[in-house]
Amino acid sequence: CGIVGYLGGREAEPILLEGLHRLEYRGYDSAGIAVAHRGKARVTKAAVRVGELRELVGKGTGARVGIAHTRWATHGEPTDANAHPHLDAGGRIAVVHNGIIENAEQLRAKLVADGVEFASDTDTEALAHLVAAALPTSAGLEDAVRAALRGVEGAYGLVVLDVRNPGELVVARNGSPIVLGIGDAEMFVASDVAALVRYTQRVVYLDDGELATITTDDYRTSTLQAHRTAKEPTIVDVAEDDYQLGEFTDFMRKEMHEQPEAVHRALLGRLEERFATARLGGIGLDAHALRSVRRVKFLGCGSAYYAGQLGANLVEELARLPADAEPASEFRYRNPVVDPDTLYVAVSQSGETADTLAAVQELGRKGGRVIGVVNVVGSAIARECGSGVFLHAGPEVSVASTKAVTNMSVCFAMLALLLGRMRDLSVANGRRIVTALADLPARIAEVLAAEEEIAEAARRFGAARHMFFIGRVRGWPVAREGAQKLKEISYVHAEAYQAAELKHGPLALIDERMPSVVLVPDDDLLTKNIGTIEQIKARGGPVLAVSNAELPGGLADVVLRVPRTEPELDPILFAIPLQLFAYHLATHLGRDIDKPRNLAKSVTVE
Ligand code: G6P
Repeated sequence: CGIVGYLGGREAEPILLEGLHRLEYRGYDSAGIAVAHRGKARVTKAAVRVGELRELVGKGTGARVGIAHTRWATHGEPTDANAHPHLDAGGRIAVVHNGIIENAEQLRAKLVADGVEFASDTDTEALAHLVAAALPTSAGLEDAVRAALRGVEGAYGLVVLDVRNPGELVVARNGSPIVLGIGDAEMFVASDVAALVRYTQRVVYLDDGELATITTDDYRTSTLQAHRTAKEPTIVDVAEDDYQLGEFTDFMRKEMHEQPEAVHRALLGRLEERFATARLGGIGLDAHALRSVRRVKFLGCGSAYYAGQLGANLVEELARLPADAEPASEFRYRNPVVDPDTLYVAVSQSGETADTLAAVQELGRKGGRVIGVVNVVGSAIARECGSGVFLHAGPEVSVASTKAVTNMSVCFAMLALLLGRMRDLSVANGRRIVTALADLPARIAEVLAAEEEIAEAARRFGAARHMFFIGRVRGWPVAREGAQKLKEISYVHAEAYQAAELKHGPLALIDERMPSVVLVPDDDLLTKNIGTIEQIKARGGPVLAVSNAELPGGLADVVLRVPRTEPELDPILFAIPLQLFAYHLATHLGRDIDKPRNLAKSVTVE
């Protein structure tokens, strides 16, 4: 979900709506805004997208303060009533909230017993009633919010407006990001800097358990226990342009095309030609600590988990250390054995994913060594890990991750190289990888240049309702990520299988209506993969081969050519045509590329 707040000399509505527009990728099943207008709350909210909300709001009221929200439903269906902001019964206190209140049921029951009538099914509404109830006995709004939050368990990032006191807003954070934007005699609040960078680059990130009161020209931060905290603004280095579409019609395509540049940034200053290794200054582990690593485990969710699997392969290949990847959510819930000789790697574009953050915290409790591989500087996971590797992919807006995933793989290759060069990887082999990594941006650009051919292939398979993605060893995580991309943006059912597993079950599904995308790198498994294609063809299944090898003529129905790199890095390049394939198939089906149904960019709740 996304939160925006404004307080200053300008009309609030246009600024709030513009902020929501920037945050829409965080959730988009409903949206709303509340402004203080002549001592009353004026609320406009509905189960609509921000574009329609803009029409519902119409002409501004001249209000100079307000809060707004775009929602991704957790508690309660996406309905008009459940959209934020929520008001207390008296209509004085308005609240927008991200996160989940865990004891919402108890709080609601108690309030209902006290005679409060609820207007929605959300966990958030209770907060508005609680703040309103605390107000008469509090020194001010901040105190009332503090009192209300004392009884609240769970995660929140929230903004509270008292319409009778429009000179201030109170914000609080516990597990769900909140950032203040410091303007010139005006203040902004948001759950993500994307909403602010148009107006200011001076920001203050709140920490968990922190509250702030903002006025037009000042802010005051303190803890939930009312101890003052001192916070200096920092300058965010993202520019407004990063959030503009420019010549593109959607962010996914824009971000795919940014990949050569993004990979270049990830590599910048990190490749060490002379010693044929990588320099990753941020991981905070000296040579001794790195040499003592006996195992590597990657933890992440969704695409970040598949990238971790690709990373585990790279670590095994280049460093000859046992490595694997696990969904962060499984790790947090299964009482994992935490091993002091394992290096844990938490992987996340946003740095906010609740499951990944919880896995890192569990590791912290059990004394595990964990580094973060994260895109967003200053994010919760980056801070919780304390050390790691930043992806430098630049802001990613599309729900379907592309450039961030590619940069994850590139960073894992560097980590594997570094670990490898402290073990058995020779200078010659290290140099081979260094050279190939430096060359990757150009190779990715070549894949992107073949976009029209890939689009054509995607249209050819446009009628498929189900698809298989087949890979083997190095290709397996790529196949999983390829299937994931297709599922999330086209809604075509896609399953990934290891090539050899086909004959143990899934082959039964092969017929002329079940196309397979088969990854065929020119490595020592080439003939095996050719055999896989023959098996599929023999059962009448259409095949799209993705390959950098010379394949026998007529083997596959369509062949997408991938440029050559070193075999260990093939998976990084092979993933790119699959992104484009999913994109063009989804476009062909008329899907909403940047806002796939039921999904959100960052899942900050369980
Ligand atoms: C959500 C997104 C996925 C993403 C995953 C992990 O489920 O829809 O695209 O891969 O979260 O996000 P993270 O920010 O931790 O990489």
